[in-house]
Amino acid sequence: MLPVSVVILAAGKGTRMKSDLPKVLHQVANMTMLEHVLNKAVQVSDDIRVITSEELRSHSEYQKLETKFSIKTILQKERLGTANAVSEGLKNADYRDNVLVLYADTPLITLPTLYELFSSHVSSSSQVTVIGFETDNPEGYGRLIEDEGKLIRIVEDKDADLEIKNIRLCNSGMMIIDKNSCQNLLNKIDNNNTAKEYYLTDIIRIICNYSGKCKVVRADSIEAKGVNDLIQLAEVDKLFQQRFKRNLMELGVVLLDPDNLYISADAIIEPGAKVYPNVYIDKETIIKSGATIYPFSHLAGVVVEKGCEIGPFARIRPSTQLSEGVKIGNFVEVKNAQLAAGSKASHLSYIGDAFIGARSNIGAGTIFCNYDGKNKHKSNIEEEVFIGSNSCIISPINIKKNAKIAAGSVITHDVAENELVIARARQVHYQNKGTSDK
Ligand code: UD1
Ligand code: CA
Repeated sequence: MLPVSVVILAAGKGTRMKSDLPKVLHQVANMTMLEHVLNKAVQVSDDIRVITSEELRSHSEYQKLETKFSIKTILQKERLGTANAVSEGLKNADYRDNVLVLYADTPLITLPTLYELFSSHVSSSSQVTVIGFETDNPEGYGRLIEDEGKLIRIVEDKDADLEIKNIRLCNSGMMIIDKNSCQNLLNKIDNNNTAKEYYLTDIIRIICNYSGKCKVVRADSIEAKGVNDLIQLAEVDKLFQQRFKRNLMELGVVLLDPDNLYISADAIIEPGAKVYPNVYIDKETIIKSGATIYPFSHLAGVVVEKGCEIGPFARIRPSTQLSEGVKIGNFVEVKNAQLAAGSKASHLSYIGDAFIGARSNIGAGTIFCNYDGKNKHKSNIEEEVFIGSNSCIISPINIKKNAKIAAGSVITHDVAENELVIARARQVHYQNKGTSDK
């Protein structure tokens, strides 16, 4: 933890997103950009203030984050610019010796960079320290103007002349400002610029006018990449994927074709797990060491234990638990089901709302008929049960230990231990004796 108050700017209109959803609720790797930033913020401070618009504040996704992260929500009534947003954030409650400003549309920032920002700020006794980055494509960003190692001005892209537009050192927006400057200088910022907004970036010029000191800490351009439109959102998502997958591989996760694999930001994949190409790992998924996920599988809300083999072409839906050594083969869909150790469903099945006991086998084409048109029902299959191919389990059903269901059965009644059940029409043979009217 650092002795800072954090102000996260999230109230911007996001007009360039061309979307009704507030910008910061758009997702990168299935997690809102705001949550990405909050995940970092809570690791540096317990005083977190989020500047919101009315649309954002009243959105249910925002309210979930508000509870999850215990943040202070501050409504910015009029979106007058980033300086106004920070002022609003500091208005009604006392704050710490330094204020860390983060942008909810800049989700790739990392913890080490925030720590470096803080330590450089403190050790250089600066009033403001800004995270800057160099890029060959600086369009849209404010440019950082340095003089003998000191930051003397930030010029917004909209206000820049040709010479300044050629500068490649850019403002990430993220900065740390000492309390004294917040108290005395924020209110000196005016809106005399092309956008008629109160720019936070103007604080640099004002501090330098008072012979104060500002500084740039250079970060990787990936961490500083901001999202203003859907193209940049896709670019940031791609960068996140690359970085996340590289980290996983460094830790010992085997990814056979990392460029063709999508992983949600909250996924946990343990070292020693192996993931084949063209797999989609959706939210709330945990893949334990020694599990293998074959191509074209979609996993969401599932815990996959060691030794499991999933796919190819498997679909695993939320609230599913696959214990050690479970095998889910091609074209099998599993939802809200717990499969105990060593159980198998190798081909073409639907297992929904069910418990499958250890070492049981679900034959090809078995369907758990869990829905009666109004309600969902749960079935319980005990251990070492064998269900023959193309059977229907009309839930709710209990099938006890060691029972066998013949292929093609439609099971409507519970089955006792060790029973063999055949529930299908008997095969009838009719001989063709020719027609009688000749
Ligand atoms: C801003 C910076 C620019 C920097 C770039 C980095 C300013 C004036 N400019 O430009 O130097 O290179 O970010 O991505 O700071 N917001 C509010 N209230 C407002 C206005 C904005 O909360 O009244 C929030 C937005 O939700 C967003 C952030 O502040 O999260 C930045 O606003 P945005 O309009 O995206 O600024 P940029 O033009 O990208
Ligand atoms: Ca922006």
